[in-house]
Amino acid sequence: MSTTPSSEKPFNIAVLGQGAVGSEVITTLHGDASHLEERAGRSLRLAAIFRRQPELAGTFYEANPELYRSLDAILDDPDIDLVCELMGGMDTARRAIEGALARGKHVVSANKKLLAYSWPELLAQAEKQDVQMRFEAAVAGGIPILNSMASGTHGERMHEMRGVINGTTNYILTQMEGKHLEYGQCLQMAKQAKYAESDPSDDILGRDACQKLSLLIAYAFGKHISPDQIPTTGIVDVALKDIEHAGSMNPPMRVKLVARAEVVDGQIIARVGPELVLASSPIGQIPANLNAIELRSDLNAKGNFFQGEGAGGKPTAASVLSDIVNIARTSEQGYVSPFGRPVQEGHNQPDKRPHTFYVRFVIHDAVGVVHDMTAVLKRHGINLNSIVQLPYAEKMLDNLPFFITVEDTDEATLQRALGEIAALPFNAETPQYIRFERDDLWRKKEDDRGAAQDEAETA
Ligand SMILES: NC(=O)c1ccc[n+]([C@@H]2O[C@H](COP(=O)([O-])OP(=O)(O)OC[C@H]3O[C@@H](n4cnc5c(N)ncnc54)[C@H](OP(=O)(O)O)[C@@H]3O)[C@@H](O)[C@H]2O)c1
Repeated sequence: MSTTPSSEKPFNIAVLGQGAVGSEVITTLHGDASHLEERAGRSLRLAAIFRRQPELAGTFYEANPELYRSLDAILDDPDIDLVCELMGGMDTARRAIEGALARGKHVVSANKKLLAYSWPELLAQAEKQDVQMRFEAAVAGGIPILNSMASGTHGERMHEMRGVINGTTNYILTQMEGKHLEYGQCLQMAKQAKYAESDPSDDILGRDACQKLSLLIAYAFGKHISPDQIPTTGIVDVALKDIEHAGSMNPPMRVKLVARAEVVDGQIIARVGPELVLASSPIGQIPANLNAIELRSDLNAKGNFFQGEGAGGKPTAASVLSDIVNIARTSEQGYVSPFGRPVQEGHNQPDKRPHTFYVRFVIHDAVGVVHDMTAVLKRHGINLNSIVQLPYAEKMLDNLPFFITVEDTDEATLQRALGEIAALPFNAETPQYIRFERDDLWRKKEDDRGAAQDEAETA
């Protein structure tokens, strides 16, 4: 079989940004790209690079100074076929992508923040110009989740998607559990280990996961739901005592920052927040440095599980290069929707379904605390499932952790009840709650008990 590229004219690529991801893409395109060319069916050429400080590229810059050009020179060059935006940020990246599309160039980007907010306008522009735009690397770095959904799930009706798609928070939560350290200490460790940026707000507040979820929803359900519509809670209020208490539950649970979206009665319900997941489940077992996404559909009800590196120069470059090859191979087709399906405007619905929750109080020890607390819960129709106060030393009397789990209740009702309890004088800290990933856990135990009893009676 011939591996010679079929087209004579090379496909000219400009790479904007030469950081963690860009430098890997550049190294591959500039080195032996025969494996890419074989798949693209044509030769691929690194035609230009843009960055603010080329000299930071050291020996690569010294050996190839002619590759470095201004953004305008790249955009105005009619020979450039594809612009690969790997700078990140909003303003320059947007100008570059819009400028490239306006001049009829294909675009690849890994910029989740820009894309999550702006893909409808950018893709409309790509369609108008009849060029392609792809962004596999924008979600879960090296996991080819978007293209899998775009072309590998046509036969299914997707109904649930959930994932751990932010590496920084997964690292922090895993370190808290493994090293028995508080959140703040683990955030510092994440910064030192380069798992967190110097300003980690987007990660720890859940915004990064929310932006990625917004993109995933378009692929899975064909709806555009802006990140602003998705209720998002980060991990800043997760304490070591929550993680330790979760581990002591039966069955043992683990705290993960979960991004989830479900279709319920034809409506999408999406959220990002900490969840108590079964420690033994695939999602509970995701290591600190990996991402994972689970998809459930009518025909794959037990779920398909994708796990891999969600960040890092090389894995993310693999996704970028895959997009480049896909476009080079099909560029003659003109605009092709990256979603593999039509996407319409959608609305996120508030989750009014009942769920089970864990709540942590930290109280000043006093007579009648449990009575006062349960009186409020009773007034809101919330049924307690368990109540745990660990043995404590005298020095903890003013700072006493106290844990409850509650049976099915809707989140808004729980919030109202906790708001009332928070106003009572015995609180040393604001009560915090975490949703259980599976509401059936406690009921399942009942079923198991029932089944065991039936069996015993039959025997
Ligand atoms: N790193 C990952 O693991 C990962 C994973 C998934 C997605 N992504 C996405 O991939 C993109 C690139 O990430 P990265 O980690 O490679 O970033 P990075 O290491 O910070 O590199 C950014 C590069 O862009 C250049 N740059 C930044 N702002 C620029 C501007 N205004 N004009 C010109 N050049 C500019 C920088 O060089 P100069 O300072 O010399 O200009 C640098 O070469 C981002 O959108 C990121 O969200 C990254």
